Amino acid sequence: MKDRLLTGLQPSGNLTIGNYVGGIKQITDYADNYDTYLFVPDLHAITVRQDPALLRKRVREVVGIYLACGVDPEKVHLYVQSENLYHANLSWLLECHTTYGELQKMTQFKTKSRNHDYVSCGLFTYPVLMAADILLYSAKYVPTGADQTQHVELARDIAQKFNNRYGEHFVMPNCLIPKIGARIRDLQEPEKKMSKSAENPKASIFLMDEPKDIKKKIMSAVTDSEGVIRYDEQNQPGIANLLTIYAAYSGCTVDEAVQKFTGAGYGDLKKAVVAVLTEKLGAFREEYERIMATSRVDDVLDAGRDYTTAVAKEKYDEIRNVLGLGR
Ligand code: TYM
Repeated sequence: MKDRLLTGLQPSGNLTIGNYVGGIKQITDYADNYDTYLFVPDLHAITVRQDPALLRKRVREVVGIYLACGVDPEKVHLYVQSENLYHANLSWLLECHTTYGELQKMTQFKTKSRNHDYVSCGLFTYPVLMAADILLYSAKYVPTGADQTQHVELARDIAQKFNNRYGEHFVMPNCLIPKIGARIRDLQEPEKKMSKSAENPKASIFLMDEPKDIKKKIMSAVTDSEGVIRYDEQNQPGIANLLTIYAAYSGCTVDEAVQKFTGAGYGDLKKAVVAVLTEKLGAFREEYERIMATSRVDDVLDAGRDYTTAVAKEKYDEIRNVLGLGR
């Protein structure tokens, strides 16, 4: 039997070129060799305030983007988290096996709770729900960007503690971080990661951006005054980011990108990044529009819901039984 691999991307904003590299691309790279699950964590999205109509629209859009980016539903189980009730149910059982102290250490909670004036309990317990997503399917591998490693580490800790107390019930998950582009950076403030929710409209490139937006954003990306192209994350984070984006989207290594642009000007590098993104995202957008004009997203999600609910029920019943719940 193939090992299981699982990941999800929140429908909390438009997906960025970072989300593709950290999440979707890895799924398309690994799907042949693993029993692969890719879902839309809509329960995670409501840990901060959402407009319900917009959230519902985004759930479908995210799945349209998964398909447009090459995720093959013949190989990958695609589903919506809230349509499978076992995620939230297992999360509660795991919350009762996680301490306040463990959750207080989560850096994403610290950052997000500073940035929102309404800090829900769900935002605090969010990593436990993520652990439930993973442990429910005995996923051995979890492809993500670098920002999620602490959450996967917590899922391991929860699994380990549970297994020590009740016997071997959970598989220990491992994070898979892409070699290139584990943290694509904000184009205006390269010390931060690129995110779906940046306030500056020039900070992030979205997968569905039009060519004119890609051009505008890349050409105005922050660089430095060194005037030399080399890969130096510390002193030239803007240039390092552009080299990374170029490598990730053209399929070469960062070293090959550096060699290609050695001696060139920053404008040349930017133009090459615009060209490579315009081509790749243009193909995604075209496919997306084709898919969204059909009922494909709903068909795939109906099948995914039924299949994954049956899989999740087995683990949930096992854990519920172990804990002495019900009759
Ligand atoms: P989310 O929705 O913030 O991000 C989705 C995926 O994109 C990666 N990512 C990036 N990778 C490279 N550069 C960036 N700038 C960048 N920004 C985001 C993220 O690491 C992630 O892989 N908690 C998760 C969703 C989730 C999940 C799960 C993931 C819920 N349950 C279970 C894996 C397993 C999140 O908020 O990702």
